[in-house]
Amino acid sequence: MRMYDVIEKKKHGLELSRDEIFEMIKLYTADEIPDYQMSSLMMAIYFKGMTDREIYDLTEAMMLSGDTVDLSAFGDASVDKHSTGGVGDKTTLIVAPIVAACGGIVAKMSGRGLGHTGGTVDKLESFPGFRTSLTPDEFAAQVGRCSLAVIGQSADLAPADKKLYALRDVTATVDSIPLISSSIMSKKLAAGTKSIVLDVKCGRGSFMKTPADAKKLAETMVKIGKAHGRRTAAVITNMDLPLGHAIGNALEVCEAIEVLNGGGPSDLKTVCLTLASLMVEFSCKIPSNEAKARVNDALISGKAFEKFCEWIRQQGGDDAYARDTSLFGKAKYFCDILSDRDGYILSCDAEKIGLAAMTLGAGRATKDSVIDPRAGVILLKKPSDEVKRGDVIARLFTEKKDTFDAARDQIISALEFTDTAPEKPTLIHEIIV
Ligand code: URA
Repeated sequence: MRMYDVIEKKKHGLELSRDEIFEMIKLYTADEIPDYQMSSLMMAIYFKGMTDREIYDLTEAMMLSGDTVDLSAFGDASVDKHSTGGVGDKTTLIVAPIVAACGGIVAKMSGRGLGHTGGTVDKLESFPGFRTSLTPDEFAAQVGRCSLAVIGQSADLAPADKKLYALRDVTATVDSIPLISSSIMSKKLAAGTKSIVLDVKCGRGSFMKTPADAKKLAETMVKIGKAHGRRTAAVITNMDLPLGHAIGNALEVCEAIEVLNGGGPSDLKTVCLTLASLMVEFSCKIPSNEAKARVNDALISGKAFEKFCEWIRQQGGDDAYARDTSLFGKAKYFCDILSDRDGYILSCDAEKIGLAAMTLGAGRATKDSVIDPRAGVILLKKPSDEVKRGDVIARLFTEKKDTFDAARDQIISALEFTDTAPEKPTLIHEIIV
């Protein structure tokens, strides 16, 4: 196989063979294809797309480029969830213990935040002592003990995707449906669970900006999952605006705990209950209405919160912080953004809010940046909320006082106001099963 010929073929929109795809992924993982040729192919795929068959082959080739996790000890009960990345998305912290409290088995590998989107691993590390790096044996043991484990992505899992994703990130080729779907699904399939529930974000804070593109991505990933014998569903959720009020690691953990204790913002709760119900349906093999009832009971009875505390403790964290969230402490500095008018919030650009949280220290500009767990934003007013002049719209937290001006400008530029009451934003666009 000559990489030049593969690029030439895709440039003309022709279908690559399974052998070409497998050979190319094998050689690229072994550093035998240079980045300049691979980035040229990625751009050709961005413009010419791939057939379903090519996408399946690419996914499988990347899945097989490294280790795969064996969860056969849990029969077909293991379930994973994946979000395509958003702002204020703390759903895993809520959904995972609910599902485990309902009798499901959650085995999940999560990422760190990059750019304006947050990562579950960073949020969990707000708990002193919490271990996100476990060996495969420790991971399986944790799942066995607690029915729940969430760890960072292993370097040996789908290494081809790791290399390709880093390349796409700097060559403007991330937002391609064949490339995103194969990237995500290669890791999910390698991670070994029998069922997968996907939260496909749609809107300004996500890769898919329109419901039509989000639906295409969701359908492609569901088809890949099913083709590999995994029960797969996707929920398309709105990411034009942040989810919940809190954006920033420890701030989001505190909001997740509020939901687990029966409170919290209703948008966050609705998305979590939808995802958790699908996961329980798949993992416990019960009808959808029974799954929904079990999920509600786990939340109301306090079983989900107790499971959360057990999970934090069993993975080495201090669950006293879950029982008394004041232990997380507050960032050294805070400032409020006040409304200078009466009216309603029309929209609130999730990406700009995510960037503001990053400016305050909650996110990473590069993979090596150190995040500040207490930094971030509490967005007190969201689209369709009424505001009066002088109301607090957002509260900013940071350890670096000189970040306030830039973060404040980002938040103000994210908000649009109107004089008449707007409709509430749609929360869940569609569920693909
Ligand atoms: N998340 C991934 O893991 N891969 C992509 O390509 C995009 C989002």
